[in-house]
Amino acid sequence: MTKPIYILNGPNLNLLGQRQPEIYGRETLADVEADCARVAAEKNMSVKLFQSNHEGVVIDTIHEARQEACGIIINPGAFTHTSVAILDALNTFEGPVIEVHISNVHKRESFRHHSYVSLRADGVIAGLGTEGYQAAVRRIGTLVSK
Ligand code: DQA
Repeated sequence: MTKPIYILNGPNLNLLGQRQPEIYGRETLADVEADCARVAAEKNMSVKLFQSNHEGVVIDTIHEARQEACGIIINPGAFTHTSVAILDALNTFEGPVIEVHISNVHKRESFRHHSYVSLRADGVIAGLGTEGYQAAVRRIGTLVSK
C-alpha cells in the first residue's frame, strides 16, 4: 500500500458541523474522515486527517508529510489568506497538493479571494461543501498512479 494521503485542516475547522452551518454544512470532520477513507479504500489508499488552530503545528505536519505522505489535501482555513509560512512549507513537499475550501470563497468577502496556498496547489476545489475533500482524494489517487 502507498503512504497515506494527509488531510490537513486549519483553524476553526474543529467546529465543522456546529460552526455557521448555513455556510459550512452539518457534517463534522469525523464524517469527512470517514467519507475520505471510503473513497481512498476504493483505490487501495488510506488517509490521515489532522486539524490544528495553530499555524506552526500545520507547518510541522507538512514537514512530517515530506516523509510520511503520498499527497496533501489542505484546507488552511483563514491561514489561506495570510500565511506565506504555510506556502513555504508546502513548497518543500514533493508530492501532489490539493487545496480545498468547503465554501465558495470567490462568492464571499474580497479578503477571501486571495490564497497564498494556490501558488503551490496542483488543484483548487471550492464551494462543493465537504464533498470537495472526496474529490480531492480521487484526484490525488489519479496523480500518484501516473
Ligand atoms: C474556508 C474558507 C476560509 O475563508 C475560512 O477562513 C475558513 C474555511 C472554507 O473551507 O470554505 O475557515 O477555508
